[in-house]
Amino acid sequence: MQSVDIPVERSGSFLLGGDRPVHRLGFGAMRLTGKGIWGEPRDHAEAIAVLRRALELGINLIDTADSYGPAVSERLIAEALYPYPPELVIATKGGLERPGPGHWTSNGRPEHLRAACEASLRRLKLERIELYQLHRIDPAVTFGDQLGTLRDLQQQGKIRHIGLSKVSVADIERARKLVPIVSVQNRYNLVERHTARPSARVTKPQPPEQVLEHCEREGIAFIPWYPLLAGELATPRGPVARVAERLHATPAQVALAWLLRRSPVMLPIPGTSSVRHLEENVAAALLELGDQDFRDLDRG
Ligand SMILES: NC(=O)c1ccc[n+]([C@@H]2O[C@H](COP(=O)([O-])OP(=O)(O)OC[C@H]3O[C@@H](n4cnc5c(N)ncnc54)[C@H](OP(=O)(O)O)[C@@H]3O)[C@@H](O)[C@H]2O)c1
Repeated sequence: MQSVDIPVERSGSFLLGGDRPVHRLGFGAMRLTGKGIWGEPRDHAEAIAVLRRALELGINLIDTADSYGPAVSERLIAEALYPYPPELVIATKGGLERPGPGHWTSNGRPEHLRAACEASLRRLKLERIELYQLHRIDPAVTFGDQLGTLRDLQQQGKIRHIGLSKVSVADIERARKLVPIVSVQNRYNLVERHTARPSARVTKPQPPEQVLEHCEREGIAFIPWYPLLAGELATPRGPVARVAERLHATPAQVALAWLLRRSPVMLPIPGTSSVRHLEENVAAALLELGDQDFRDLDRG
């Protein structure tokens, strides 16, 4: 792979909501926190270095949430990067609470969403959040109350654009009747994209691929979480490893390059707590998969 000054530029760009350009390869800041996405990082200095290096490499889309830590991920972002460069989009989320390490519960009540947004604004030292994502649709709260609260926050100038997370095509279309939706963040990676995962909330589980195709048709950004299957796709196994060997790349780079090639609306946000892994992942933007490699991985 050749070396270039700003490798992330090679991932292409996407205009979020029609007015916020970002490079397609972003960074997920969930893994900066402690074990179980709870508490402080094991190595605080490394967490700060990861965030600063991400910007040096050209990343201008960082995904986080109030519930990562909770509060820790957003606080680290402000500590490492404030004052922010104007091109940086910090996409945060609200709607999940944390009773303890590894536990997540929905809370989409309007008073909670309003308080969560205000707290994120304070922690991130922002006057407006460029992309605010509803982390989960709460089945215990009416759809209109949840999306209506985000619409109010948008009208008050506290958030610029609204995104959804873990949703079906039907959810997206219901939401779009109430507010413009610019992004969808769902679990999606090379090996799980055809698998409909059962969920308590969804009566008819839908393969992730169908949601991606809908976003493509509608020009909505698709932000895949678990792009590396929580690290499993970075291990040398199966078709990803074979293609990686052929291209003198790493399995993580191949898995990310595949996502970037799969769709122009795809904005992968691989997460890491290490500068070394960050640099490796960003170099995926320089990896060009040939048609044959792309098809082999598709079948694999
Ligand atoms: N909307 C949602 O409900 C939701 C859910 C989950 C995640 N997310 C977002 O999506 C982002 C990405 O998902 P994710 O972080 O859970 O999973 P991921 O990106 O698939 O994988 C992250 C894991 O892979 C390891 N890793 C990363 N790069 C590596 C490399 N080059 N070589 C070896 N191991 C590597 C990391 O460990 P090291 O720290 O050791 O590198 C980390 O444990 C999150 O950070 C978060 O922002 C959203």
